[in-house]
Amino acid sequence: MERPSLDRVVIIGAGQAGVQAAASLRGAGYAGEIALVGDEPFPPYQRPPLSKAYLAGDFARERLFLKPDSFFREAPCDLRLATRAVAIDRAAKSVRLADGDDIAYSKLLLATGARPRRIRVPGVDLPGVYYLRGIEDVDRLRPELAPGKRLAVVGGGYIGLEVAAVAVKQGLEVTVVESEARVMPRTASESISRFFDEVHRAAGVHLHLHVSAEGFEGTTRVEALRAGRERILADVVLVGIGVVPNDELAREAGLACNDGIVVDEYTATSDPNIFAAGDCTNHPARDGTRVRLESVQNAIEQAKCAAQSMAGDPKPYRDVPWFWSDQYDLKLQIAGLARPGDALVLRGEPASRKFAVFHLRDGAVAAVEAVNAGPEYITGRKLIADRVRVDPARLADLGVPMKTML
Ligand code: FAD
Ligand code: APR
Repeated sequence: MERPSLDRVVIIGAGQAGVQAAASLRGAGYAGEIALVGDEPFPPYQRPPLSKAYLAGDFARERLFLKPDSFFREAPCDLRLATRAVAIDRAAKSVRLADGDDIAYSKLLLATGARPRRIRVPGVDLPGVYYLRGIEDVDRLRPELAPGKRLAVVGGGYIGLEVAAVAVKQGLEVTVVESEARVMPRTASESISRFFDEVHRAAGVHLHLHVSAEGFEGTTRVEALRAGRERILADVVLVGIGVVPNDELAREAGLACNDGIVVDEYTATSDPNIFAAGDCTNHPARDGTRVRLESVQNAIEQAKCAAQSMAGDPKPYRDVPWFWSDQYDLKLQIAGLARPGDALVLRGEPASRKFAVFHLRDGAVAAVEAVNAGPEYITGRKLIADRVRVDPARLADLGVPMKTML
């Protein structure tokens, strides 16, 4: 008897992109099986609150979960938690799980995300040194953040600064060391960096720029951070020095990888039956360059795109990327991709804590960074999407309403 052809999408990684892909496959009318395999013990959850309200204790754990249990029953979607995928056999079209099971696929989606970059300095294994990626990391870190304690943060990027803001508000003595000359050097323009630098210092955070962490000292647990010529006393340390994409499974299976799993605009990898979405991918940006993005929006939109492709109705992924960060009473919203050489236009005064920096390329808005400035951000996104050319003088003039720029 002939075996009916298999119709099963296997998704590795039960995070933001993985669960979105499962939902969007059903939305696209896919009627075959879906298996969602995740190595964490939790159903898919959102990470942004982890370094913000959830860390502060202002956000209930249940609110982190992206779907109710009923979603997986009704989809239906075979959700396998605490299960790690350890190898892909492309010839057999199957995935080997850590428990020894093999699971066959007709299409495979890699949504394995990224993990914190580990710091390679002496003393890193001392108790009291933390990273932050998942729920369990926060559940370990939060009890350490008692008022009066000294927290040293390594890395003045998003995670370091968000945690610093939460901790200093809770009455800790907070020091941040950043190896570059300014905070958020990877993602923000100089004026935004300068603004957040001043905000953190005004809140009482000790900020050391141009200083790299060189080691941790302590006997039974961490007592100090060595950085440059400084020895910074610390009861607890948080390391937030960026992430690396989880692309090892793909690499070992022989898929093209280059700072992430290389995908095309339809999220296809170098194997036509394997797709990838989210933090683990390296994909073509709208301007033809290749990027690896670390954001909820990218995870969601790429997952939708992957679902369309796997359901046989491919549509290219061309969205304008966007991102946000919350620090104190400030909401930073970024859209588009800034490049060196962009002409910068400031709208509003940083001192008012409500302003935006626009990045113009060839006369059109290519990116916007908005601080507590909703209209600038919303209209900015549209201007970027439509590649609208704007008059810099009008853009800088608060008297000209944003929506008239469209
Ligand atoms: P993930 O959500 O990381 O999911 C990947 C999953 O795959 C993980 O559960 C991982 O354990 C699992 N996995 C990996 N390998 C395997 C394997 N071999 N087998 C089985 N499972 C595997 N983005 C924003 O846009 N705004 C923010 O404000 C923001 N704040 C953030 C704050 C924090 C603390 C963190 C950590 C991230 C934040 N992000 C933010 C980034 C955002 O959360 C990520 O971009 C997003 O989660 C990416 O989704 P993903 O599905 O690609 O990866
Ligand atoms: N000592 C001090 N600073 C360092 C060191 C070091 N040894 N190594 C790197 N850094 C600094 C970098 O210069 C950078 O400014 O750490 C910062 C890391 O910032 P990000 O790249 O923004 O990474 P991180 O803050 O860890 O956030 C990781 O989480 O918020 C999410 O998705 C978001 O991409 C982000 C991810």
